[in-house]
Amino acid sequence: MTPTAPSFAPYTRITGTGSYLPPRRLTNQQLADELARDGVETSDQWIVERTGIRARHFADADMAASDLALPAARHALEAAGRQAADVDLILVATSTPDMIFPSTACLVQQKLGVHGCAAFDVQAVCSGFVYALTVADAMIRTGSARCALVIGSEVFSRILDFKDRTTCVLFGDGAGAVVLEASDTPGLLATELHADGRHVGILCVPGTVVGGKVIGDPLLKMDGKAVFKLAVSVLEDAARAVLAKAGRQESDLDWLIPHQANIRIMQSTAKKLKLPLDKLVVTVDEHGNTSAASIPLALDHAVRRGQVKRGDTVMLEGVGGGFTWGAVLLDF
Ligand code: UT7
Repeated sequence: MTPTAPSFAPYTRITGTGSYLPPRRLTNQQLADELARDGVETSDQWIVERTGIRARHFADADMAASDLALPAARHALEAAGRQAADVDLILVATSTPDMIFPSTACLVQQKLGVHGCAAFDVQAVCSGFVYALTVADAMIRTGSARCALVIGSEVFSRILDFKDRTTCVLFGDGAGAVVLEASDTPGLLATELHADGRHVGILCVPGTVVGGKVIGDPLLKMDGKAVFKLAVSVLEDAARAVLAKAGRQESDLDWLIPHQANIRIMQSTAKKLKLPLDKLVVTVDEHGNTSAASIPLALDHAVRRGQVKRGDTVMLEGVGGGFTWGAVLLDF
């Protein structure tokens, strides 16, 4: 049998978005009350002033990353007018997978009731979604796939230390997804990825499993100030680099969708790019920091509330553990 020649696509385009939040929503006050019972002191005022977060969603104990990813994926497929059987690549960006292996992407494939297409996880912490989107874009343009489901899904509540008020108030659970397809017209315009392993220690979950036992600390550790400082600097650099690659200007941007970690980091990036703050998509107030899920969650919310429209120029920016960062510029 003669092998089929790969069909190279000139461009890729997002044809549908979707998201899912677990039903249990905790306001800052509800979380503060729960923490106070264990002698951990925080307040709604501190959390809002320092981060912009007002609430977050936590998954129930029996819900794993693949359970959140599934409804997000189905919404994205529906929005794209596609069936699961049309998908030939599934990527899940997550740092809180269901199991050590197989990948959460394989579990999502099974839950979607399809089989045979490529499926794997991408682990780049809070930059995971821009990494996964970049991989899918490259695979489609080089003929390895034509219709990709790219998902960010996290249950960070599983790795939080609820005795550490400097981290446990920041994160939430959720999932977001896009369908990325081969296209004759431009969608994704340029991508930019970076990592600097010298900073592994400022944001990490240092534990592991050896011989069936947890070795080291399996909960999230963060030097918030160091992460903050690095984040504001690399987000500006990545934004300028991806615009330059695409031959576009800051003024061409209709929307900036940065990783939703802290409103102060997001606003600082927008100001450095001289973008009016009403071009910033903000969901951190309602979702908290959902790591790899935060960007596709914010994109889907912005699409569904009528902010991001077809033809708009959008910049997605991720930053997080590794240290990793990156940007994707696209015409939606
Ligand atoms: O997803 C990856 C990306 N992650 C990020 O981008 C996170 C980046 N970092 C940040 O967003 C901020 O650094 C934080 C929100 C984590 C912290 O804000 P900060 O303005 O850097 O506060 P801080 O760490 O300097 O703490 C200020 C004070 C301290 O008290 P003292 O030493 O001044 O008496 C903390 O102990 O606030 C105290 N504090 C709290 N108080 C009430 C820290 N956490 C809390 C809390 N409630 N939850």
